[in-house]
Amino acid sequence: MLRHGQSDWNEKNLFCGWYDAQLTEKGRKEACAAGKAIMDANLKFDMAYTSMLTRAQDTLQLVLEVIGQEDIPVHKSWRLNERHYGGLTGLNKADTAKKFGEEKVKIWRRSFDTPPPPMEKDHKYYECIAKDPRYCDEPKSSEFPKTESLKLTIERTLPYWNDIIVPQIRQGKRLIIAAHGNSLRGIVKHLQNISDKDIMNLNLPTGMPFVYELDSCMEAVSPMKFLGDPEAVKKAMEDVAKEGKAK
Ligand code: 3PG
Repeated sequence: MLRHGQSDWNEKNLFCGWYDAQLTEKGRKEACAAGKAIMDANLKFDMAYTSMLTRAQDTLQLVLEVIGQEDIPVHKSWRLNERHYGGLTGLNKADTAKKFGEEKVKIWRRSFDTPPPPMEKDHKYYECIAKDPRYCDEPKSSEFPKTESLKLTIERTLPYWNDIIVPQIRQGKRLIIAAHGNSLRGIVKHLQNISDKDIMNLNLPTGMPFVYELDSCMEAVSPMKFLGDPEAVKKAMEDVAKEGKAK
């Protein structure tokens, strides 16, 4: 699994969510480096899964090109989308921390069941997200989020994990999932049975792949294993956490 490479909204430290930000040059390089780490680990895949958002799809494509596996089937679903950041979408994270306090921003970013304020119809990015033709079939309008806590994100990601992804793993397929910081936090929480409290402390860095081996009960045999230098992973996680600090 891997979170997409740095996007232009990551670079500007803006709450992104369902806004379709693009990879920066750095983000493209991160995706290629992820491919190299995957190749060095001699990992091969039978199928790929990603979200409806370009930053994850392009990350996956770059990885598959680097490892020479562009021909495997790629499945895309809104259920792997980043958590919808609601009314915070487009706001600078540091400025928001200055205005509402760092603790409030940490709760919005990392708590289990406190969603950000909803995105109302007059929000600057409402039209380009809610009316995006890529969502014409699903989610149904009744399911289209206005904001999502991690709990709400998990409630729409886990059915995809259980009903679409797990059956492939049970058939012995080796999968790669390129998604987002919070949709992956939901899957990690599920696989490692992380408590609602402890999940507050998990920050996933951009473009750094991690591996799970699952047992016959589809539970993680061991905690997530990042490919690459542990010190670099630790620093990158700390940098993600710092995005919510007031400047
Ligand atoms: C976003 O959606 O803003 C980022 O991709 C994830 O943001 P976070 O690390 O603040 O949850």
